[in-house]
Amino acid sequence: MLTKFQAKLFFLVGTFLFSAVFLLLTYDSLKYVYSSPSSKTLSEEVIRGKELWEKNNCMGCHTILGEGAYYAPELTKVYERRGPEWIRVFLKDPQAMYPGERKMVKYDFSESQISDIIAFLKWNGELDLKGFPPKPELKSSTQLVDSASAAIVPPEKFKQICTACHSVGGAGGNVGPALDSVGKKYDLAYLQNWLRDPQKIKPGTAMPKLPLSDSEIKDLSSYLSQLK
Ligand code: HEC
Ligand code: HEC
Repeated sequence: MLTKFQAKLFFLVGTFLFSAVFLLLTYDSLKYVYSSPSSKTLSEEVIRGKELWEKNNCMGCHTILGEGAYYAPELTKVYERRGPEWIRVFLKDPQAMYPGERKMVKYDFSESQISDIIAFLKWNGELDLKGFPPKPELKSSTQLVDSASAAIVPPEKFKQICTACHSVGGAGGNVGPALDSVGKKYDLAYLQNWLRDPQKIKPGTAMPKLPLSDSEIKDLSSYLSQLK
């Protein structure tokens, strides 16, 4: 049994000690918050993007920073994963990107609203989250394939949009087939028609009709026809 004096001492020392620990930890957290570069880079664009994010209830389906619903993909690192060009094309018409599959809402955002959302996603992706979310182990997209095609420099557009679904030399996505020797399979004219409207050539195909200009189609198809 503690005497009355010991109990008092126990209370006072304990209270003092843990208050001190609490204050020190608060100081440490605040120091971290204010020294983190991301708190200084909250631009108007990012703020507008966040407002659009909230108003349209993206978290009803998605998580960001781990918070939200688990119906649709985690978006904290989507900027790094997909890149701004891909996200722009996707948000304009989400269903067109994955014809016939589960779909995301088409919001009819304006170009500048899409830019705001992309800025918001980029800002989140750049936060120092101490390793969250962990990187998935994707073996298929990192296996190196010995392919002469990997040495040919692709057009920017290819890196921005196509590699989300296709690989060359083992690098890229695996939603669509690897394109290492696609130039052997098809001629230039076929490739041009394919990129213009895949559905017309192969109704029901999972390859999206992407918003590409004529000159982009020309560059892409001439690149693809060199992959042999
Ligand atoms: C009704 C549910 C729903 C809502 C609301 C929703 N999404 Fe989605 N979103 C999806 C689904 C489902 C996918 C996955 C598409 C697929 O794989 O076919 C997706 C995919 C995405 C992707 C691509 C992710 C990736 O890694 O490929 C982005 C970016 C995205 N959504 C942004 C948004 C934004 C921004 C909002 C709010 C303005 C939003 N979403 C609201 C269902 C939703
Ligand atoms: C959302 C995923 C997706 C994106 C983005 C995408 N593709 Fe595809 N692509 C596919 C799928 C799936 C197929 C297989 C279609 C089929 O066989 O029905 C395909 C097929 C192809 C083929 C025919 C390959 C073969 O061996 O028959 C070519 C060429 C091609 N894509 C080029 C491109 C180019 C160039 C881009 C970028 C401008 C691109 N794709 C973007 C999903 C995608």
